[in-house]
Parts: sequence; structure tokens; C-alpha cells
Amino acid sequence: MGSQGFNSSELSQGQAHLFKHMLSYATSMSLKCAIQLGIPDIIHNNGQGQGQPITLPELVSALQLAPAQTGFLYRLMRLLVHSGLFTAKKVISQNDEEVDAYGLTPSSRLLVTNNGNNEVPSLSPYVLAAIHPATVTSFHFLGSWFQQKDATPSPATPFHLAHDGISFFDYWGKNTEYGDLLNDAMAGDSGMLKAVIKDFKPVFEGLTSLVDVGGNTGVVCKILIEAFPHLKCSVLELSHVVADLPNTENLKFIEGDMYQAIPQADAILLKSVLSGCSDEECLTVLKKCREAIPSNGGGKIVIIDIVMDSKNDEHEMLEAKLSYDLLTLVCLTGKWRSPKDWGKLFLEAGFTHYKITPIYGLNSLIEVSP
Ligand SMILES: C[S@@+](CC[C@H](N)C(=O)[O-])C[C@H]1O[C@@H](n2cnc3c(N)ncnc32)[C@H](O)[C@@H]1O
Repeated sequence: MGSQGFNSSELSQGQAHLFKHMLSYATSMSLKCAIQLGIPDIIHNNGQGQGQPITLPELVSALQLAPAQTGFLYRLMRLLVHSGLFTAKKVISQNDEEVDAYGLTPSSRLLVTNNGNNEVPSLSPYVLAAIHPATVTSFHFLGSWFQQKDATPSPATPFHLAHDGISFFDYWGKNTEYGDLLNDAMAGDSGMLKAVIKDFKPVFEGLTSLVDVGGNTGVVCKILIEAFPHLKCSVLELSHVVADLPNTENLKFIEGDMYQAIPQADAILLKSVLSGCSDEECLTVLKKCREAIPSNGGGKIVIIDIVMDSKNDEHEMLEAKLSYDLLTLVCLTGKWRSPKDWGKLFLEAGFTHYKITPIYGLNSLIEVSP
């Protein structure tokens, strides 16, 4: 069959593939609905907190759905099960009927908000932030943004176009509901470090001071202080994030702008910051970081961020990274970088050594030294 024609198998496969991607937002929105209804927590608590699979009638009852809504729930769960976000197995109900019982998968376990040991925090706020109307609306402006004719795109991002010229970080500061959700999202992602910090002790051992640039509400610093009680940490952040946060003996919040000045310390940490920045912005920040660490050696920059590895990442990991890179394009001026892209930035900023190690989830840890 030539390129102009289709056989019936191509027609059906082509349409199914197209519709799957055309409607992939149905999965995101169903996931949002499941979080809003509290389904991950309900399953987690089922069977005296043992996370036993819950039958459809039990789930209907736990959700206290109005009778008119009860018949629709299985359709929501059917899509989420098909997408691998929940499991389903057939069990015999109290009425001797065969019914579906839903369980958690490793991905929906990450949505549980009351998991007790707090070793792995909930990523529910992260999901809700990523599909918040303020985020999703910006995607509708991607086409118009591409069609701009200016040599330097102005407004800089589709987010600006969607929000009357306001940048993502300004909107974060001005819109309390969105800002609180984003801060909770960051806390969730950063909190995952707690589960792996023991494997990365050599990176932080021996340091006496550390500045977490763009360190949000200090979640990473608190994890580091717990593991290294002698470490004095500071978070350099925009005023709207840290203005009301109290300092403690080991943790200081500094209102400032990373493009203007970075306080001196043995080590500078940048987690999920540089991927949001253009190459020019990264160079400004990295050069300021270099000035902030001891000039007589021993200082380092620790970056926890995404490294794109299209050759080695398995399909799902790569798809998550490629999609997230587009979210970065839509909301920020940054991009997700390959090891080669990162290396080029470090050399241009005056560093000579760097080492990349996968740390958790989509993140790698990059140690950079002069
Ligand atoms: C994607 S978040 C990462 C937060 C935190 N490092 C984490 O991983 O949980 C980026 C952070 O950088 C902060 N930020 C953005 N621009 C900044 C600037 N010019 N100076 C200091 N912080 C900034 C934001 O307020 C936000 O908290």
C-alpha cells in the first residue's frame, strides 16, 4: 500500500492510536477525579489499614455517592485500571455476586496522603498542579506562541500568553490557591529524597554550610539537617514563598533573587531549578554559584534535576520526560537537558568536573566542582 492509501488494519490501528492520544487528557482528568474523591486513601485504609482491594459496592458506600451517581463509578475505575493506575480483580461479594475489587498499584500508592510513615510523601498535589486549569490553559496557547514572528519570543512562554503577560513564578506568587498547590507539589517531590538520602551520604558528608537556591519551603534542607545535624542550611527564595517562614537554628530563609546574588557556602544545591531556566539563565546562576563556594577548593554545586537519556531510558520513563519537557516549554523558559547539554553548560560556567548519578524517580544527582 502506497503512502496515499490505507489498508483496513492501518485504518483501525491508525484511528485507535490517534484517539488514544487525542483523549489522553481523559486519563489525566479521571486521575484528578480519583484524587478529588479520595479513592487512593480509601483503598489504602481498606481492611483495617491493610490496603485490601475494595469492591465496587464498598467503594460506592465509602464515597457516599448519591444513588443516581453510583452506576457511573465503574466506568471511571475501568479507564484507570486499564491505564495501570489501579488494579482490579474479580471477587465474590456478600450478595454472592461476582464484582470487581480495586487495589493500588505502585503509581497510585504514591497518591496516598496518609501513609503514616511519611517515608514517601504524596504526589497528589503534584498531579493536581500539573493538570490545574492555569497550567492546562497555557497549552492552548502553544500554537499561537509558535506563530510569533519576533526574533526573541515575546511574551516568552505560552503561559505568559494565557495569563495576560504574567510569568509562571509571578502567577505562583499572586494566585494563592495555585501557589499553595505548587508549594505542596514541590514538598511531595522533594520529600521523596528522604527515602534515598542514606545512599548519597558521601555527597554531603563533611560540608558545614549549604545554600539551597530556589529551595521552596525548605523540605530538602530539613531532610539534609536530619541526616547531617551539624549542617547549617539556608534557602534562597522569592519573597512570596519564604516571607512568612520562621528560621530555626540550622535553617535560615533568605529572600532574594538567584540571578542577582547567591550567599557564600561550602555547597550550593539546585533542585528542579535549572531545568526551568534557559541556557543563558543557567549560566548566570552557575557563575554566581561558582563565586559563592570557597575559591581555595573543597566547594561544590549539587544539582538534583532531570537528565534526558533517550538512548537508555526505557519507554515509559522517556515518555514521561518528553511530556514534562513540553510542560516546561509551555510554562517556563527552560528545557530538559541531555548529559552533553549539561556538560556544555558546566564547562561554559567555569567548572571542570561533574558526575551524574540517577537518584530517584525522574531525577539524577549531578555533583559539579571547579
Ligand atoms: C520548580 S521549583 C523547585 C523547588 C525546590 N527546589 C524543590 O525541588 O522542591 C523552583 C523554585 O525556584 C524558585 N525561584 C524561581 N525564580 C527564582 C529566583 N529568581 N530566585 C530564587 N528562587 C527562585 C521558585 O519560587 C520555586 O520555589
